[in-house]
Amino acid sequence: MKRNIILMGPPGAGKGTLAKQLIALGYVHISTGDMFREAIKAGSELGKLADSYIKHGDLVPDEVTIGLVKERLSQDDCAKGFLLDGFPRTTPQAEALEKLTKEINRPIDVVINLDCDKNELVRRIGGRRVCKNCGAPYHIDTFKPKVDGVCDLCGGPLYQRNDDNEEALKVRLSHYTNQTKPLIDFYQERGLLANFDSLKGSEALFDEIAKFLKS
Ligand code: AP5
Repeated sequence: MKRNIILMGPPGAGKGTLAKQLIALGYVHISTGDMFREAIKAGSELGKLADSYIKHGDLVPDEVTIGLVKERLSQDDCAKGFLLDGFPRTTPQAEALEKLTKEINRPIDVVINLDCDKNELVRRIGGRRVCKNCGAPYHIDTFKPKVDGVCDLCGGPLYQRNDDNEEALKVRLSHYTNQTKPLIDFYQERGLLANFDSLKGSEALFDEIAKFLKS
């Protein structure tokens, strides 16, 4: 069983959706985006800082994000295996993670890269609704909750993220292309990369990846 996993892919590729499904296999889900949104909801200093970047689609500074992940990844529950969703996103983050995983002896087993074309990303982000309590993602056309506006998992209210608009998405896609996409080569060189086509439906994708992780 592959235990320590990075989920990579552009905004809307399905990282969060897949992570919520993979939790059933025993992984701890660590999403830097969810951590920042929690901090924003709590009104903390970290939240105020993160919000000033996220609402425009910009990346939160490396030193802030790296510090957050270092603390979380060192906690005891991560010993059973973790899914890093949305981290690393820059070369300094990937280098810091490499150093940290050596120090705490929790090496990355595989990097799952989700491929998705741009038109589909725009469609998914434009119709996404997210649970305010647990962060579970839905879609107004292709992944509706059982009760309109209510999360199937926890009963929380669904809302549209303030970075899910055309302007912020353009910025997010350009950060992805310039800063995150080069990490595909970084992990390919280390023999850790596994590519999957996220255009297939989320159930088929989950089955394929769950089988791969168990092999
Ligand atoms: P984050 O929350 O990580 O956002 P993201 O990477 O832009 O990814 P998304 O959450 O938009 O998409 P996803 O791939 O999880 O797709 P989802 O499963 O929801 O980060 C937000 C912000 O925080 C960043 O912009 C940045 O400012 C900051 N930040 C976070 N991490 C940072 C870092 N490391 N460094 C610096 N700043 C950082 O699915 C999308 C939609 O598609 C849903 O509606 C879903 O129903 C649908 N869908 C999913 N999979 C499928 C499928 N297989 N088939 C059909 N539909 C699908």
